[in-house]
Amino acid sequence: MNTTVASSNTSFAATLHDLIEYPTSGLFSKVLLKDNNTQYNLFCLAASSQIEEHTSTRNAVITVLEGRGNINLEGKDIALAPGVFVFMPANAPHAVQAQENLAFVLAMHEHSSLKKGISQQTIDIVKSTAPILKQHGQKITTRMYEIMFHNYPEVKAQFDMSAQANGTQPVKLATAVYSYATHIDDLEALKKMVDQIAHRHVQTHVLPEQYPIVGECLLQAIQDVLGDAATEEVMTAWTEAYQALAEVFINREQQINQTALAN
Ligand code: HEM
Repeated sequence: MNTTVASSNTSFAATLHDLIEYPTSGLFSKVLLKDNNTQYNLFCLAASSQIEEHTSTRNAVITVLEGRGNINLEGKDIALAPGVFVFMPANAPHAVQAQENLAFVLAMHEHSSLKKGISQQTIDIVKSTAPILKQHGQKITTRMYEIMFHNYPEVKAQFDMSAQANGTQPVKLATAVYSYATHIDDLEALKKMVDQIAHRHVQTHVLPEQYPIVGECLLQAIQDVLGDAATEEVMTAWTEAYQALAEVFINREQQINQTALAN
């Protein structure tokens, strides 16, 4: 079970070397500390194991404690050895290989643009698109799934394809996007909806790193359907708004997963 070592309410000190445990193969990870802004994990990779290439929606920092390995960050190889510190911006593809048993601390931070909150300008623009989203919502979400299943066919396995064919899923997504546009400045009102969707996402194994995929396809679909109405201003506002919504889901889904692990 993956328990958190320290609570964010009380002071805490540990000798990290005492917490290192290597599995015989693969990796072992432990949450050291987590608060609303940052999560610190201890990662212990057995010699010769690897973490396949992936992205994260959050900025992250690796600090190597012991061992040797390699991180490929945005196509560039960086040698990992004790004391090496690597900053990985959100969405930067990275993969890790351990040559020897390798231990590092991974600190993940909230996306800096989100900490500032959504700007009033974005709120106003997104709200102004609500009527057009109501009118074209299903067309946009149907187009979004078309783009996603074409460009990222591997995600199809997570979906009930009959709910796609009969239009149920595009309608559900359109309703969610429209509700978000109308309540972007009052997320409390969306709590029930977010909760229901987040539970469905957990059931279908949606991962944080898949949010940029849906974001890219949804924004493309908005542009395709709205045509000239999708001005640069509208697209910038929706990019910011989507990231904020993705963060809400990612956090809620992480909570649901953690509660399930703790029980
Ligand atoms: C902010 C972004 C997203 C929104 C607004 C959203 C919205 C929704 C909604 C409204 C549902 C239906 C829930 C229900 O049946 O009660 C749903 C289900 C689902 N979503 Fe998302 N979603 C988002 C991101 C993602 C991402 C990143 C993925 C990953 C590929 C994903 C995959 C799924 C899957 C697999 C289902 C279940 C579909 C089924 O039953 O066939 N969603 N989502």
